[in-house]
Amino acid sequence: MKNLFYILILGVSLLTSLVTTAQTARSGKKISTDLLGLFFEDINYAADGGLYAELVQNRSFEYNPGERREWHPFSYWEFILPGYSLGNISVETKSFIHPNNPHYIVVDAEFIGNYPQFTGEAGVGLKNSGFDGIVVREGEKYSFSMFAKQITDAPMEFLVSLQTSKGVVLAQNKVSTSVKSWQKYSALLSATANSDSASLVILAKTSGKVALDMVSLFPEKTFKNRPNGLRADLAQKLADMQPRFIRFPGGCLVHGNGLGNMYRWKNTIGPIEERKGQRNIWGYHQTAGLGYFEYFQFCEDIGAKPLPVLPAAVSCQNSGGTHVIGGAGQKALCIDDMDEYIQEVLDLIEWANGPVFSTWGAKRAAAGHPAPFNLEFVGIGNEDKMTPEYEERFRMIVKAVKEKHPEIAIVGNSGPFHSGADFEKGWTICNELNVPIIDEHYYVQADWFLANQHRYDKYDRKKGKVYLGEYASWGNKMKNAIAEAAYITGMERNGDIVQMASYAPMLAKKGFTQWTTDMIFFDNVNICLTPNYHVQKMFMTNQGDYYFDKVVLKDESNNLLAASCVQDSKTGDIIVKLVNAGTEAKTMKVDLSRFKNIVDNAEITKLSGSADAENTFDNLQKVAPSKSAFTAKSKFDYEAPAMSLTIIRVKTKK
Ligand code: AHR
Repeated sequence: MKNLFYILILGVSLLTSLVTTAQTARSGKKISTDLLGLFFEDINYAADGGLYAELVQNRSFEYNPGERREWHPFSYWEFILPGYSLGNISVETKSFIHPNNPHYIVVDAEFIGNYPQFTGEAGVGLKNSGFDGIVVREGEKYSFSMFAKQITDAPMEFLVSLQTSKGVVLAQNKVSTSVKSWQKYSALLSATANSDSASLVILAKTSGKVALDMVSLFPEKTFKNRPNGLRADLAQKLADMQPRFIRFPGGCLVHGNGLGNMYRWKNTIGPIEERKGQRNIWGYHQTAGLGYFEYFQFCEDIGAKPLPVLPAAVSCQNSGGTHVIGGAGQKALCIDDMDEYIQEVLDLIEWANGPVFSTWGAKRAAAGHPAPFNLEFVGIGNEDKMTPEYEERFRMIVKAVKEKHPEIAIVGNSGPFHSGADFEKGWTICNELNVPIIDEHYYVQADWFLANQHRYDKYDRKKGKVYLGEYASWGNKMKNAIAEAAYITGMERNGDIVQMASYAPMLAKKGFTQWTTDMIFFDNVNICLTPNYHVQKMFMTNQGDYYFDKVVLKDESNNLLAASCVQDSKTGDIIVKLVNAGTEAKTMKVDLSRFKNIVDNAEITKLSGSADAENTFDNLQKVAPSKSAFTAKSKFDYEAPAMSLTIIRVKTKK
């Protein structure tokens, strides 16, 4: 009888706790589960020389003066003849591996020096110093490969090595070529010493004539050890953020500098020697080695939804540098070509989600991914100028995607600013077409973010949802990051209408930047995380799916203070974010009394610093979040330090 009583009590208390949890979640406002993600654009050497782990620059001899006036197919290569050897090289196009990759090098090794006076390695060959030097680490392995085609009959021997600028060998291996058709040859190089500025040297050790192309070197350890993979340390910093989605491949890179420069996804899949590199709109070369397959794979590897953005059949309005004359450079695909272009958009969906027996699904499977990528969204257009030509093409694409793939959510766009004629027109067109999500972009001063925290409070809930696809305040100091933090609390509050948001741009290589405000700076060795990165990561790793108002009581007239409270219904955790963008500490009152089941053992993550504090390569850790334990009560006062973001994560009893 007594046992029955206890079972009854246990049952009732279990039920109460379940009901309490359920009521807790229900009493909040349901918000987007995809709110915070990443924007990736190949700008600032973000892909080639950055996230894409290829260490050889101009591996396919496709650099050209159209990309940069002084560039040519042999840029970043050096012809070497150590040991008084004799030979020659020529750039040729007669007999390429693939028409998308027309240039290659012919090495004619006439005589390999054999003088007793020379004690080093004699030979005829090539040297490449990568993107500002190749980083080599003792104990690590590097995967070398090249395509070669023998022209003379006899097989040839090559010595492949990694060397310091003084010629000290860090790793080496041998490759023999023998076949008179294009063939891939590979070798593993094991490093016995370190260098931050090594070169790859390929030396013919026997006489003969050979064609070479796709000369490549990857660290063996890429992110998740993927072949043709990503730089592990950089990719890990992105994975650590736990983004809900990744938008790619841009940015202006998507719509391109004129029609011929639009980013065409089909050029970026399949064997890398068959991909079509082209001029990057930001003034360098994109190999497409980091292409659609790699983007989708990376999304899957880190649990983020893919958000590919395709051109709306128009080029960037600033094409040809026309931003100085009012951005009148938009070019539109000929209407006669639209059927084919629309098919390209539809084919992407089939490539990502279609069965292995479909035409494009089979190509995905052939690349090693028979399972679908579960694509949910497709972006059409990037902050385009809302011309009649644009509108006509956008409408055609949207109609076709909706008809063929009603399951895919289209992300439309609304021009490059937070307001104005393009913004209004973009929204109107999207709303007329019932486009479910509309991409907004704005780069503004920190004060704008503070003054406009309530922007989305006023948005019409019956219209399309917002994707704030690109935003940043101008600068990477604490005051910028904290203004963005305040703004994100406003997005969480409006998470019923703000579906997604991503800071931009994401990556910038030191010394190779075209856009000065970025989330992560890097060189070949170091990664400098900005305060903006820390803010994004703190919010991203603390997302919820229910929003609760009036949890934080503060002076509502003071726009230097901001706060939000969400709950993650999976874990039950209640997450309070408190922002103080002022120069004095301020007390805010936190009232968690509506949550009946909180555990007092909570955790605080705090980011604070002076308004002008920033991280540099000389001081990578000047601004970094710290974690500490916190005893949560149902009501408490919290003193938010000047210029700070605090996140309090409170567990609930199940
Ligand atoms: O993020 C940098 C650039 O800003 C993007 O390429 C473009 O979409 C925007 O103007």
